[in-house]
Amino acid sequence: MKVVTQLAEWKRLRLSITGTVGVVPTMGFLHEGHLSLVRRARRENQAVVVWIFVNPKQFGPKEDFGTYPRDMARDLALVEHEGADYVLAPPVEEVYPPGFQTRVEVERLTQRLEGAARPGHFHGVTTVVAKLLCLTEPRRAYFGQKDAQQVLVVSRMVRDLGMLGEIVTCPTMREPDGLAMSSRNVRLSPPERKAAVCLYRALCAARDAHAAGQREGEALREAMRRVLAAEPLARPDYVSMADPETLEELATLQGPALASLAVRIGATRLIDNMPLPAPEG
Ligand code: PAJ
Repeated sequence: MKVVTQLAEWKRLRLSITGTVGVVPTMGFLHEGHLSLVRRARRENQAVVVWIFVNPKQFGPKEDFGTYPRDMARDLALVEHEGADYVLAPPVEEVYPPGFQTRVEVERLTQRLEGAARPGHFHGVTTVVAKLLCLTEPRRAYFGQKDAQQVLVVSRMVRDLGMLGEIVTCPTMREPDGLAMSSRNVRLSPPERKAAVCLYRALCAARDAHAAGQREGEALREAMRRVLAAEPLARPDYVSMADPETLEELATLQGPALASLAVRIGATRLIDNMPLPAPEG
């Protein structure tokens, strides 16, 4: 496995790679969720590139860029074990050198949910992902359903800009109790870690009510809020039952839907979601 930190060197290397490239964009501090993406990329492509870069542009001024967990040595060992061919891990000045002034922005989709809660977050994501897709020219790029809105926004960008390559969505990997794996989970104290399962429980409550025939968006959102209200350490940011393509809140569910939420557990903000299938018949 080759680790590359200089983008000029990478560009030379990329020209020498023949065959299909699969890219896995990450911010490091890798867990099984990330590794499931690497494994899928390994199965489906001739060369696998893992991007490890904590992207300052997608963090708000009051967010945790400075304290985002990092462990490059451990990350390199993990992706090498999964058979990645290249790790691209540039320093911030390589990605955003002096004079950098380009921004890629997807408009309406980014106004909702995470975009509403974290102004500027998604243009940080789309700018860095656009740069990464230009640098790697992948046949496939792998993203997790865990960040449902991110996959929608990136897919929209790829379609709108006519980028080649397919965006592949991989299922959310969970801890045995249902908590979605996240680099930020290490920040949870033991009581907070126990409390954090309320996100998954809330999503399951919505899923169960939906399976039992509930089609009113507000009743499904209320089912999620009730579960969160029972957890004293949880402070909900939003709960949503939305159209899975446009992310508009649904009054009545007629087709598939996306249940999603953001909740603060102590100082840690967690997100999770569950796609709900279209009712049968
Ligand atoms: P990061 O949070 O490190 O996540 C990298 C990728 O792993 C994302 O596509 C995310 O959805 C996926 N992922 C995270 N947790 C997962 C889980 N439990 N199961 C399955 N997949 C999971 O998302 C980012 O980084 C950044 O925004 C990035 C796209 C790299 C741009 O900077």
